Amino acid sequence: MRRVYALILIIGMAATAAAQQRLASVTPLPTKVEFSDTPATLDVERGLRLYIEGAAEESERLARAADATGIALKRVNRPAKERYLNLRVTDSAEQGAEGYTLDVTERGVTITASTPAGIFYGLQSLRQMNDGEVECCTITDAPRFAYRGILIDISRHFRTKEFLMRQIDMMAQLKMNRLHLHLTDAAGWRIEVDSYPRLTSYAAWRTPSTWKEWWYGERQHVEEGTPGAYGGYLTKAEARELVEYAADRYITIIPEIELPGHSDEVLAAYPELKCTNNPKFQGDLCIGKEATFEMMQSILDEIIEIFPSEYIHIGGDEASKESWKLCSDCQRRMQEEGLESVDELQSYMIHRIEEYLNARGRQIIGWDEILQGGLAPNATVMSWRGEEGGIAAAEAGHDAIMSPHGYCYIDAPQDAPYSQPESIGGYLPLEQVYSYDPAPESMDEATRRHILGVQANLWAEFIVTDEHYEHMLWPRAIAIAEIGWTPQQRREYSDFRRRTLRIVEQMQQAGYTPFDLKNEIGNRPETLTPIDHLALGKSVTYNYPSRYYAPKYAAAGDATLTDGLRGGWTYADKRWQGFLGRGGVDVTIDMGEVTPIRSISADFMQICGPGVYMPCMVEIAVSNDGEQWQPLACIEHEIVVDELPSFKSFGWEGETSARYIRYVGHRSKYSGFLFVDEIVVH
Ligand code: ACM
Ligand code: ZN
Repeated sequence: MRRVYALILIIGMAATAAAQQRLASVTPLPTKVEFSDTPATLDVERGLRLYIEGAAEESERLARAADATGIALKRVNRPAKERYLNLRVTDSAEQGAEGYTLDVTERGVTITASTPAGIFYGLQSLRQMNDGEVECCTITDAPRFAYRGILIDISRHFRTKEFLMRQIDMMAQLKMNRLHLHLTDAAGWRIEVDSYPRLTSYAAWRTPSTWKEWWYGERQHVEEGTPGAYGGYLTKAEARELVEYAADRYITIIPEIELPGHSDEVLAAYPELKCTNNPKFQGDLCIGKEATFEMMQSILDEIIEIFPSEYIHIGGDEASKESWKLCSDCQRRMQEEGLESVDELQSYMIHRIEEYLNARGRQIIGWDEILQGGLAPNATVMSWRGEEGGIAAAEAGHDAIMSPHGYCYIDAPQDAPYSQPESIGGYLPLEQVYSYDPAPESMDEATRRHILGVQANLWAEFIVTDEHYEHMLWPRAIAIAEIGWTPQQRREYSDFRRRTLRIVEQMQQAGYTPFDLKNEIGNRPETLTPIDHLALGKSVTYNYPSRYYAPKYAAAGDATLTDGLRGGWTYADKRWQGFLGRGGVDVTIDMGEVTPIRSISADFMQICGPGVYMPCMVEIAVSNDGEQWQPLACIEHEIVVDELPSFKSFGWEGETSARYIRYVGHRSKYSGFLFVDEIVVH
């Protein structure tokens, strides 16, 4: 008797484990999943009868989403008693604006929500659970954040409506709801504007097809139709079609019109909006000229007519502000308005644009630089230079969206740099993205309430092809989707990775080109295990003239070079220590007592893009009293400038004994950083 009972228990447990396995395949992971005591499934191979209640004019939209679950559906006018799929929008549903309850029994499926959006998300879960049968369970689910977004940059290299629709399809399955379109930037204007036609007949075209060639060349634009002209733009009709396509999937497109910086292409098409004395390669709009406001307001009139989004992104980042100091119009404006700095001049423009859009029922989002010179009263801040801007805005009672570059800038390489296409920034693997929490417990409650959500930004300077773009976007944007949806305490990387491997495979089958996660190489092998050596934990003195490491790249401070921890693919991982001084790195290790020594070495990393170079010479010496030094090695190194990060060890081997070790890495003629992670002594 007891044995039979145990057997039933085991079968029950196995079935439940299988059910857990299948359900845990819903991504983003739902808030709560409950199974019935007896595991059971609903067979959906023979199809279900679809009944939609309370969705009013959104019924057809939901019917299309229901069809996309892959279950054959027959629409009925009354709820069926069995083999049903009932979609119920009801005031009594409790899951908030985007939440839903999904109830699967052996008779059918019921999805309940207080909005059609909630029903849509329930259908996305059902779609992922369907493999001919669906496990019986109840899912109670709602997003952690209201804003779950992706930025797609179609300025640096134009992408078509069809490409954008494919990404929208994936976003929808992952319950993401905001697509931020970076429509304008120096390299190309990408949206039709009737009142300023040269934005698309001229500013949307260039002859060098890659951004890199264009940027490092003369940065010129050409007339549309010029032989070899490269570029493009969305017509108003295409943009409207996109808006509709996204709305059908409960995604809002937020257009970004950059001002006052990143506007080189606007000035190329309408040079009369340049500052007087505008330096070459200077892309800031003139804030002194009234014509700038006439133009921007006219453009925004047309933009809000195409994009119904509550938010319009107005850029605000990285203005050089130099031309404003030289321009008589800008100086006059500052005088007339009592503005004391160019920061305040920028803020004056953002305020005016906000007022203009607010009067038309819209709100602005700007990059965190809009905090400089005073934040516009109703602005939402998108925090990219770190989290500080978002937190400062939230503390001041503004809303903020988090997209700090250390986690959300997925234009950075996601695997060993030698295995990846040229990109910007340091190693940013899926796990690092996933580790981000936009509103941690440590943030006070009032501040946290203003964190609207999270966004992945994919800038396209180095991304020419669609395949490459998808490779960068997926699967890291899946991590952003789960950060945006799933409660923090439910998130766990290994489980997420397991589900993501499956999604990547499905995407590949559907013709997408995501990064092939299953073949991930991972971080620099040296960084994975701490090492033991004779200088471990020994004290390090930083000598003149370098003396100090750069505060931003202090890593573990004075302990860094003898803490046994070596750096990974990026110098920003708090294991590499950075030296910016003219002297490079110059340190003395005190071994505590005279010690037999057979080798001394240190690794350096080089990544030329951000100005990190190998030393041109390394000198190693030892001493017993710290005064009389015996040189051991002087290693010269010829620097090879290339695009990929590289790593090199500089060291000495032999036999000696000493109490003090002096290690000097000289900076080369290339100004920039030296980075070293550990001085290893055996
Ligand atoms: C930005 O990356 N400049 C917003
Ligand atoms: Zn000016």
